[in-house]
Amino acid sequence: MDIQLRDMVSADLFKVADLERRLFSDPWSIDSFRGALRSQNQVFLVCDDDGTIAGYCGMLMVPGEGQILNVAVDENYRRRGLATEMMNSMVDIGTTNEVFLYTLEVRESNAPALALYKSLGFVPTGRRKGYYKNPEEDAILMDLDLTDPNTLKRFGIED
Ligand SMILES: CC(C)(COP(=O)(O)OP(=O)(O)OC[C@H]1O[C@@H](n2cnc3c(N)ncnc32)[C@H](O)[C@@H]1OP(=O)(O)O)[C@@H](O)C(=O)NCCC(=O)NCCS
Repeated sequence: MDIQLRDMVSADLFKVADLERRLFSDPWSIDSFRGALRSQNQVFLVCDDDGTIAGYCGMLMVPGEGQILNVAVDENYRRRGLATEMMNSMVDIGTTNEVFLYTLEVRESNAPALALYKSLGFVPTGRRKGYYKNPEEDAILMDLDLTDPNTLKRFGIED
């Protein structure tokens, strides 16, 4: 299998929005994705398996901070490292733009996503009560601070 990681383009929008609708109870609309593609400070990547969108990931970059917006992998392509590859690419793109802090929110009950983010070095930093709807649920806030010596230690890199 030869899955290509590349920038999302307009031609992907219908397939991406379709996957988003299948995976999330409160999905982004196709117009939200379209707007994101036009934005200068948002990066969207897809995993393309010969025309099938196997996954996608988005990040909003504000000065000094990368906010991970969405990470999704089609059920048929899970546990093959695709989300890890997309997230690592986001961090590579971010660091090239001098972004060393990455933040995200995740549903408290979303064990696969929590495990993914922890495996990438994200740590829980807080909670937002009732942040999600359909069903209502708290968000766990997580971040990856590449300037924090503890982050470096977790990866076996000492200052
Ligand atoms: C969360 C999600 C993006 C993970 O995608 P993926 O491509 O399967 O993830 P990876 O293969 O890169 O997994 C990396 C690590 O994350 C953890 N992980 C991922 N899925 C897991 C699961 N179902 N159970 C436990 N750990 C899991 C594991 O540590 C895994 O490493 P391993 O496979 O070597 O054990 C995917 O399950 C998904 O799209 N879920 C629905 C949408 C969603 O919830 N997105 C996140 C919104 S915040």
